[in-house]
Amino acid sequence: MKNIEIISTGRAVPSKVVTNDDLAKIVDTNDEWISTRTGIRERRFCSEEESATTLAVEAARKALEASQLAPSDIGACICATISGDYATPSMACLVQRELGLREPIPTLDVNAACSGFLYGIEVARGLLNGCGEKYALVVGCEQLSKLLDMTDRSTCVLFGDGAGAAVVRLSEDATYASTLGARGGFEINVEGAGHGTSHIHMQGQEVFKFATSIIPVCIRQLQEKSGLSVEDVSRVVCHQANERIIDSVVRRMKADPGKFYKNMDRFGNTSAASVPIALDELVENGDVKAGDMLMMVGFGAGLTWAGAVIRYAGV
Ligand code: UT7
Repeated sequence: MKNIEIISTGRAVPSKVVTNDDLAKIVDTNDEWISTRTGIRERRFCSEEESATTLAVEAARKALEASQLAPSDIGACICATISGDYATPSMACLVQRELGLREPIPTLDVNAACSGFLYGIEVARGLLNGCGEKYALVVGCEQLSKLLDMTDRSTCVLFGDGAGAAVVRLSEDATYASTLGARGGFEINVEGAGHGTSHIHMQGQEVFKFATSIIPVCIRQLQEKSGLSVEDVSRVVCHQANERIIDSVVRRMKADPGKFYKNMDRFGNTSAASVPIALDELVENGDVKAGDMLMMVGFGAGLTWAGAVIRYAGV
């Protein structure tokens, strides 16, 4: 089976900025608590005209344009989300339709919450190898604002909306590695269709402990498989749930804090979108250049976790 590399990225976030002070006007919270406990200062919420679908399509379109490929070159379309606008059609099918991708290509959503984008990369690898195709579009998108209970201060201050996308290509790069896992549980849950209004519920401290223990496990597994450590890669992109989670991992692993990208101050926790949004910012800012190796780690509801060591090859 061939490996996989990223050739281009894209992102889309709503224009409406919601600051911690904005939230303090509607729920019993304050900027000091949110920023010191999480590192989050603001997040984006969709307006009436925006949705998970519009964000996913915009991010995917930007990634496709940046790849310099035609829609007909794409051989699989995968969308990671827990907040799609329809139970069916999938978000991936809506992206396929809006971007004019070919009909006979596998197109599906992945539900692995905040690990979803990295699950999606590995699903893309399997599908491309299985179908004899070369390129796939992998999107992570969320409109979590519609799943928030704005009377529950322990969750409503954490999450935001956004989408990120990447075009990936099969490659012979032997340094690619991935690790995926799950431990079924209800520590973070959202009721499904038929349960009335669905809201995100989370046992914050349990999930915090899980996150700080699983990230080093993923990093060690990736190192064993790829031969590359945190020092050897250009950047480490972890899911952006809480600044304290990343800081704790950095301390525990005695790693270089500068390697670990953070943008939760501006976007909050965007679940499946957080890793590809961060990746696109790094590419846009020139912090990740063609040929660079990246380490990425996701963790979240399911419980799920996922990691990848992957090359940003560029076009
Ligand atoms: O994306 C999926 C993965 N998710 C995560 O990784 C999230 C992991 N968990 C966390 O990041 C943290 O557990 C939270 C940020 C969710 C919570 O931080 P914490 O330090 O674990 O706070 P806590 O839940 O223990 O609450 C501490 C206090 C409580 O008050 P008392 O009982 O000590 O009086 C809460 O009622 O903080 C209170 N509190 C708040 N106060 C002001 C909880 N939420 C708020 C709030 N504003 N928004």
